[in-house]
Amino acid sequence: MKRGRFITLEGGEGAGKTTAAALIERWLLERGRTVVRSREPGGTPAAEKIRHLLLDPETGELDPMTELLLMFSARRENLVRMIEPALARGDDVLCDRFTDASRAYQGGGRRLGIQLVNRLAALVHPGLEPDLTLLLDVSVETGMQRVAGRGKAADRFEQSRTDFLERVRAAYLTQARLEPERIVVIDADRSLAEVERQIIRALERCLL
Ligand code: TYD
Repeated sequence: MKRGRFITLEGGEGAGKTTAAALIERWLLERGRTVVRSREPGGTPAAEKIRHLLLDPETGELDPMTELLLMFSARRENLVRMIEPALARGDDVLCDRFTDASRAYQGGGRRLGIQLVNRLAALVHPGLEPDLTLLLDVSVETGMQRVAGRGKAADRFEQSRTDFLERVRAAYLTQARLEPERIVVIDADRSLAEVERQIIRALERCLL
């Protein structure tokens, strides 16, 4: 059985990942693929509990290393119970965020550094990185406007200050420059139709 493809979606707050995920899933289904959707932190019952702890504003401030370790705890559960079995079955996995989010949010945003995140990644998922990562890059200003427009209460990360979100964005773009083959940067400040065109182009180039 041929192994499935591991595709991840990344981006800052309000980048439009939800719309993009639906488009990518449709594209894969139209090509006869079986698609397993997941998200991080989360994806399994235990990992969703960790997600709740991480996102709930009532949790308050966490030590950055604690936050990073919780992200990786949730990731390990998702990986062992959902992602790996699906890929081994030959299904494609489309995951809303993965370790690049830890590189960006905890490595960049919380200033833990990408090296530390990479060391944990080597322990928690040795030899596994996504086959394709779409990074929806949006300016912090536009992203925050979109989040505010949703009218939902802001979670722990959506409440972050602009300088934190700027560091997240910069770390994502640095990672994309380090791995241009794996990470495709999508300009998500553009119109929905244009963003969709860029995503389809990336899928055709990388997955066909
Ligand atoms: P997500 O559900 O994608 O939130 P949104 O749809 O609002 O962008 O992700 C939840 C939050 O968790 C998001 O703010 C980013 C953060 N996060 C990290 O800080 N590190 C990580 O490793 C992951 C996976 C997410």
